[in-house]
Amino acid sequence: MSFEINARTQLLGLLGHPVAHSVSPYLQNHLAEICGLNQRYLAFDIADEESLEDAVWGAHAMGVRGFNVTVPYKKAVMEYLEEIDPVAEKIGAVNTLKWEETGWHGFNTDMPGLLRALSYDGVEIKGKNVVLIGAGGAANAALCAALEGGAAQVLVLNRTVAKAEALAEQFGGAYPFVPIRCMSMTDDFVSYMASYGKEWIALQTTSVGMHPDVNGLPVKGEEFYDHISVGYDIIFNPEETAFMKQVAAHGGRAFNGLRMLLFQGIRSYEIWNDVSIGDDIAETVLKGMQEALRK
Ligand code: ATR
Repeated sequence: MSFEINARTQLLGLLGHPVAHSVSPYLQNHLAEICGLNQRYLAFDIADEESLEDAVWGAHAMGVRGFNVTVPYKKAVMEYLEEIDPVAEKIGAVNTLKWEETGWHGFNTDMPGLLRALSYDGVEIKGKNVVLIGAGGAANAALCAALEGGAAQVLVLNRTVAKAEALAEQFGGAYPFVPIRCMSMTDDFVSYMASYGKEWIALQTTSVGMHPDVNGLPVKGEEFYDHISVGYDIIFNPEETAFMKQVAAHGGRAFNGLRMLLFQGIRSYEIWNDVSIGDDIAETVLKGMQEALRK
């Protein structure tokens, strides 16, 4: 049963720029509806970083209990937090805020969202070789997931190798027993991968292949895909990216980013409401998201 908006409706929201195409309002409002909570979630476009502080404290002043933060404010918002969850601290980015008695507490749900998507799909990362494609904002949570999930090693593949090295440096200290190797797209990464077999798990975190550039391939060359047994693309529009098609054409299992997005949103919802959301509810929301995106 869906609640009418009334004087007791609780407000949650998203702070970012731009936010007009965000799927999070759909996701969060449907979760609240299915769970029977009198909440609404709105997207707030915060035009510049100077306005972020006003938005964060203004939200508190109005009794907002939590919100998501997206690009470009996932780092900047950390300045206003009383406490930061250890995972978010490691990643260096916060995407979920919850008000706890005397201040905002910050969390990162991108990493647990990816781990839950892997687990849902029956993909075991423990002891596996992982190749991370990209070293931008989205790569941080993915690298953290690979390390936290117990990968045997991680190869970070990025056009600009210096960015890959900076990312490896950020995490190396926290996981000293997992080798992190960095290579650029022009290095002979295929030979390196081949020396460890053909069962690599690939986490694709670049924007290459996203609508409208749907033919874009983040890694060129057929041989790379011969060594991938499972490929995750962070992109979900189009539903099947060029990267996913290559993984599948070479016999691997391929997944888009919609379940990761779903599970990060679910984790935020769980934090705000102190509940656990099972896979059955998750699937109902996912179906709705798929339909909404196809419109
Ligand atoms: P951020 O997420 O930090 O805002 P971004 O510019 O969106 O960064 O880029 C995210 C990732 O996609 C980066 O790894 C970027 O590679 P570089 O570090 O070399 O810039 C990668 N990327 C973006 N466009 C790309 C392209 N056309 N070819 C290859 N990689 C690309």
